Amino acid sequence: MLPSRIATTIARALTSGCPRAVRRLDAGAMADDPFALFEMWFAEARVSEPNDPEAMALATVGDDGRPSVRIVLLKSVDRDNGFTFHSNSRSRKGREMAGNADVALVLHWKSLRRQVRIEGRVTAATEAESDAYFATRGRQSQLSAWASQQSQPLGSWQELVERQAAMEQRFGDKVARPEHWHGYRVDPRSIEFWSDGAHRLHQRRLFTRSTDGRWSESLLYP
Ligand SMILES: Cc1cc2nc3c(=O)[nH]c(=O)nc-3n(C[C@H](O)[C@H](O)[C@H](O)COP(=O)(O)O)c2cc1C
Repeated sequence: MLPSRIATTIARALTSGCPRAVRRLDAGAMADDPFALFEMWFAEARVSEPNDPEAMALATVGDDGRPSVRIVLLKSVDRDNGFTFHSNSRSRKGREMAGNADVALVLHWKSLRRQVRIEGRVTAATEAESDAYFATRGRQSQLSAWASQQSQPLGSWQELVERQAAMEQRFGDKVARPEHWHGYRVDPRSIEFWSDGAHRLHQRRLFTRSTDGRWSESLLYP
């Protein structure tokens, strides 16, 4: 939860269409709480981004040491559970995360000229959390989680259409969540906030978490 003073300021700024009022909170604000700062930036991005403010690049590393990166959607964020997205554990990323839990995320909000970089370790969300999220998806999206063998070679588009139709026949009213489609939580050990400045004098605020769980902040040259 955001401190009420900050939440009120954000609400006022967003309803008055004045994001600059929000930006004034950046400098030195919430120095020990990167989650509060993330929530503040995310709230602004939800207003200003034309689409998918929750889109983030997820980088993983394979057994061969080679990195790969793709977009996934950030579905929830909080101090206890970290940054959560949902995917197929049999996909390329799923296999890579099973072999190496160290991942990196980056969100880029072009409308705000801001970037957030997150590094940490990934774990599977609970069954209950995965079930709850899956239940919110539309029926066709639920069926496609069964129909799509994510990252596997596909012979033709028709093959996918037929698999989707077969799933339509297979399930009644309720579509159960496939065991291989679930949430992933990234528990961050560092979160960096980058904001655009004039003449390339951009601001970089790096938060790192120590072993006792406390966060500390430092600045980086842009
Ligand atoms: C805007 C956007 C959102 C996406 N969201 C997800 C997502 O939440 N989960 C997911 O598995 N794939 C998502 N994808 C597809 C992935 O980028 C990727 O194509 C897919 O997961 C297969 O990746 P992999 O072969 O590296 O495992 C999204 C793609 C875009 C462009």
